[in-house]
Amino acid sequence: MLRLPQRDLRCHECALRLSCCVNAGDNAIALIGFMGAGKSAVGRELSRRTGWPRYDTDEMIREQFGISIPDIFARHGELAFRDAETTLLKTLQRGLGGIVVTGGGIVLREENVRLLRRMGRIIWLDADEEILWQRASRHSTRPLLQTPDPRARFAELLRERVPLYQTATDYRINTSSSSIAEVTDEIIALL
Ligand code: S3P
Repeated sequence: MLRLPQRDLRCHECALRLSCCVNAGDNAIALIGFMGAGKSAVGRELSRRTGWPRYDTDEMIREQFGISIPDIFARHGELAFRDAETTLLKTLQRGLGGIVVTGGGIVLREENVRLLRRMGRIIWLDADEEILWQRASRHSTRPLLQTPDPRARFAELLRERVPLYQTATDYRINTSSSSIAEVTDEIIALL
């Protein structure tokens, strides 16, 4: 499977080069980040440009349940969705080659982060809060934003999650003023 040349990405567990860390796979790139960060679009473009397979956890869970994510939350509850995320990551094994696109809440479970790290490098797509909000609120389908004050909920969730993305990631990319193609270029330059 594909092998990524090592650059100076650091492992958070051992602070050595990623290639020195026994837990780090080197075959996959996992994209993490909050709603509106552009993970899905960048994942598609990255897959198109590299020819690597793409595993989008939201898409795969939607297919598995046969209904939309808001419907999964409404009918089965958030816990069922979170369990499906973890189960799916367990099936995407170490040694897997490709691009793993994750939902914004994947970092809520440490186990998920460990599973992602075993697959390869974790890249955090980030942006300024207002930009994330503008992008995420264009589509009103996100179940976690179906509240009387979605903007306040958005800010609260972001505040809670930023430290989790920070801990999980090997590399952070600010996508605030970059196009999908530019973000993809930046990731490809890391490979
Ligand atoms: C979620 C984000 C969504 C999706 C689900 C939960 C979250 O994915 O996984 O609605 O907890 O932030 P996106 O990050 O692609 O919007």
